[in-house]
Amino acid sequence: MNIKELKDKAFKELANVKNSADLENFKNKYLSRNGEISSILRSLKDLPINERKKIGPEVNQLRVEIQGAFENKRKNIQTTNYKLQTTQLDITAPGIKIPHGHLHPITLTLRKIEEIFQSMGFKIIEGFDIETEYYSFDALNIPQNHPARDAWNTFWLKTKPEKLVLRPHTSPMQIRFMEKNNPPFRIIVPGRCFRYEATDASHSHTFYQLEGLMVDRHISIANFKAVIEQFLKKLFGEDVKMRMRPSYYPFVEPGFDIEMKYPASPPASPNRGESLGGSSGKWLEIMGAGMVHPNVFKYSGYVPDEWQGFAFGIGIDRIAMLKYKINDIRLLYSNDLKFLNQF
Ligand code: DAH
Repeated sequence: MNIKELKDKAFKELANVKNSADLENFKNKYLSRNGEISSILRSLKDLPINERKKIGPEVNQLRVEIQGAFENKRKNIQTTNYKLQTTQLDITAPGIKIPHGHLHPITLTLRKIEEIFQSMGFKIIEGFDIETEYYSFDALNIPQNHPARDAWNTFWLKTKPEKLVLRPHTSPMQIRFMEKNNPPFRIIVPGRCFRYEATDASHSHTFYQLEGLMVDRHISIANFKAVIEQFLKKLFGEDVKMRMRPSYYPFVEPGFDIEMKYPASPPASPNRGESLGGSSGKWLEIMGAGMVHPNVFKYSGYVPDEWQGFAFGIGIDRIAMLKYKINDIRLLYSNDLKFLNQF
């Protein structure tokens, strides 16, 4: 066989070497003592001297080339083996933890409150973040230029001719619902509200309210008290105390504020301090309420003498802060994961 053919054959075979066993075979076949190159070198002695002088160096050159290529291949296979060994799948290794999302404390509170009212037969209705002046005030018995409007620091939108607002409370849905539905009914209206107010630990320009409205032929304050007492017990436990104090809201008569006392002492921890949640033994105002004003029925298209009802507006943020012992409303809107991950 001539040297060129041997070289081609050897390099072709080396290209097909895939693992240590192939490597060993290749070495035996070409580079060992009994390998093809050695046997050619051995056969040189039978050749005439001038041919020996010509072929001898060529064969030696070939041996160096094959040896070099072989060493490279061996290194490659060694690294591949090493990589395989070190990247092997370890089925005992702990998995990669995918962080789970969770609900915001306001959402958790809202869902719980909705569940309680639903269990008492209330339907959930939703309103609009942007409302008209009429539904926000006039139809709720708060006439234009009446000082009562000052109680709602309202964001007015630059719209014409109709004046629109970011709703300052959820009460407008009382009217919208009654315009389209006949009693008897029980509804709650959860929603986001907005007030033109400076922000501090207990005030936020954006907050959540939950409106309630129950209308039938004979609804009394006793019915209202029973519903709210039941609601508070289900939310805060049997020990919770409530009281009603006279108050003024133009859309109810009489009107009251509801206060509760939360008996259990909260655990001490950062952001969960004494100013709100920790004040066991202190009365805290949590909602405004009252018996629906006859004018509100009139605006809604009902005959006031035929119907009676109670309405209430709960501050959801307040409830969430009480429930989770949060002492600053701004925490609820700051999107700080260190805070939110606690829920
Ligand atoms: N809308 C009132 C507010 O934002 C809360 C309120 C008070 C709602 C009395 C009512 C109610 O339905 O009867 O301050």
